[in-house]
Amino acid sequence: MKAVFLCKSGQERAHLWREHFGRAAPEIEFRIWPDVGDTGSIRYLVLWEPIDDIATEFPNLEVLFSTGAGVDQFDLTKIPDDVRVVRLLDPMIIAGMREYVCHAVLTLHRDFLGYRQSQAVADWRPVETRPANETRVGVMGLGTLGRAVLDALQPFAYSLRAWSQSPHDVDGVQCFSGSEQLQSFVSDCDILICLLPLTAATRGILNRDLFDAMPRGSGLINVGRGAHLVEDALLAALSDGQISGAVLDVAGDEPLAPEHPFWRHPRIQLTPHIASVTGTESAAAVLLDNVLRHERGERMLGVIDRGLGY
Ligand code: GLV
Repeated sequence: MKAVFLCKSGQERAHLWREHFGRAAPEIEFRIWPDVGDTGSIRYLVLWEPIDDIATEFPNLEVLFSTGAGVDQFDLTKIPDDVRVVRLLDPMIIAGMREYVCHAVLTLHRDFLGYRQSQAVADWRPVETRPANETRVGVMGLGTLGRAVLDALQPFAYSLRAWSQSPHDVDGVQCFSGSEQLQSFVSDCDILICLLPLTAATRGILNRDLFDAMPRGSGLINVGRGAHLVEDALLAALSDGQISGAVLDVAGDEPLAPEHPFWRHPRIQLTPHIASVTGTESAAAVLLDNVLRHERGERMLGVIDRGLGY
């Protein structure tokens, strides 16, 4: 059966992707939403916003690609079991995350949040800094992005650790796993980075109990999803000093409402979900590579485990 690929994304990106596919693999028919044609012939679909009745709309769908690294926007129960769901492992997403997290870790470690306040009141006063090798930095999540971030942090000589649902080994990183080791992991993190996928098990994981288990005055970086964080718990932990600062790229409700207290909090640095963004050319190459793998009967990269949800 012919490879028919449907793209439901921004028009500019969709047309650039179609050009890329047309140059490299003209045998693939690339359609752009809303010109879907005969939906029964569509075997590949890429989108971000889920379509409710995907099973009836696209009865012969084989692969559903996310345009991003996450798939939590999909309700997996509505996607037929035999459809492969694939995260986008785009090198630009990975590079962006490395840059963002290094910046965020340095912001907290070197107290640039404090210096921002000092500058506002013309206060020329240095603050003592703990050396990097005595600063414990922990990453929650050991997928492609978690590993890339740990690798990017290595040259700074931080004392690195990581936590994931299942056991892993990473060179130069102390690894923890499972809910039974979560407390001992966070009790050893001066800076905690959340890069977990959002699932029922990780929703609200950044909560008051977790903050209380961290060393007093530690810092938080959330580059996962807004729903990982209990926002009021963070505000409370910041006001009593249990957490000394946070760098947040995601929020529970995006865009964050103008009246939200995060905007003006002196100990929060906020960005509008830009830690890493899908590259146009690089993502086209990753998508096409996966389609060709599937056509050859090979395993695609980034296929999620439907049971785990990531
Ligand atoms: C962005 O958050 C993504 O999932 O790529």
